[in-house]
Amino acid sequence: MSDRAARPTVTVCRGCCCGTPKVPRLDHAAQLRELRAALADSAHVRAVDCLDVCERANVIVVQPSPDGRRAGGRPVWLGLVNDRDATADIATWTGAGGPGLAEPPGVLDLYAFQPSRRVREAVED
Ligand code: FES
Repeated sequence: MSDRAARPTVTVCRGCCCGTPKVPRLDHAAQLRELRAALADSAHVRAVDCLDVCERANVIVVQPSPDGRRAGGRPVWLGLVNDRDATADIATWTGAGGPGLAEPPGVLDLYAFQPSRRVREAVED
């Protein structure tokens, strides 16, 4: 996929808790680096400040591409993404098209959560 505007977006929280030693046993820099490397040609990957759901650190939000949204895809919030396998699953799914265009690996259901509307709106606009 070459048109940047047509890509899904992966929002990676890097605030007061996500991406810090408060979440132990994870190489946080590597997590972001691996997502960026895996999705360099297929998605936007951005780091943002605290998303206000720190109890779920590390939080990653996968937002659909315009085509994905037209196909019914909605942003998927994933919490406690604190292992490399989950990060790799997110990269694979997003690389395949993400919400609306590709079926997420079933294991990601374990990480999905629904934040409050206030929290959602801060990211999804
Ligand atoms: S630091 Fe990620 S939700 Fe607060």
